[in-house]
Amino acid sequence: MSDYIYALPHLNAALNATSGILLVIGYTFIRRKRVVAHRNCQIAALTASALFLVSYLIYHYYHGATRFPDIPIIRPIYLVILFTHLVLAIVILPLVFLTVYRAARGRYIQHRGVARWTFPLWLYVSVTGVIVYLMLYQLFPARG
Ligand code: HEM
Repeated sequence: MSDYIYALPHLNAALNATSGILLVIGYTFIRRKRVVAHRNCQIAALTASALFLVSYLIYHYYHGATRFPDIPIIRPIYLVILFTHLVLAIVILPLVFLTVYRAARGRYIQHRGVARWTFPLWLYVSVTGVIVYLMLYQLFPARG
């Protein structure tokens, strides 16, 4: 297996962090009624998340799962974060498409209605993606 595969978790975390930051910036734009800046930011966040998904799938195809070490208290905390991250990552997919679809159709009232769910859930997924990375690869890396 080529060594570049081992760089992918770092890239994935960076892409997760990027999409989270862009989501927040995009949100502050729409609060100030800056529609074009809001649109551009949220499309950029979507691009970062899509790149993340591709890179994540490539990594797990070649490498498989990485086991978190058996550290009391910390491991259950890690597993709860990982579980909620994965479940919500699946839940937000249709929500993101619906949010973008309604915006693209100019149905902004409906867009706003669904976006109020999409935004916090997507942000949770991005932030917990970075937390999972920090715990697994930086704070408590598996030995050997
Ligand atoms: C999936 C990406 C997107 C997310 C997560 C998102 C999120 C949001 C949120 C949370 C609001 C409500 C803000 C508030 O509470 O005042 C909003 C409003 C709005 N968004 Fe988006 N947005 C996205 C994509 C877009 C796109 C591509 C456009 C294209 C123009 C757009 C245009 C608007 C407009 C015009 C509003 C104001 C609606 C109103 O208050 O009547 N959004 N968006």
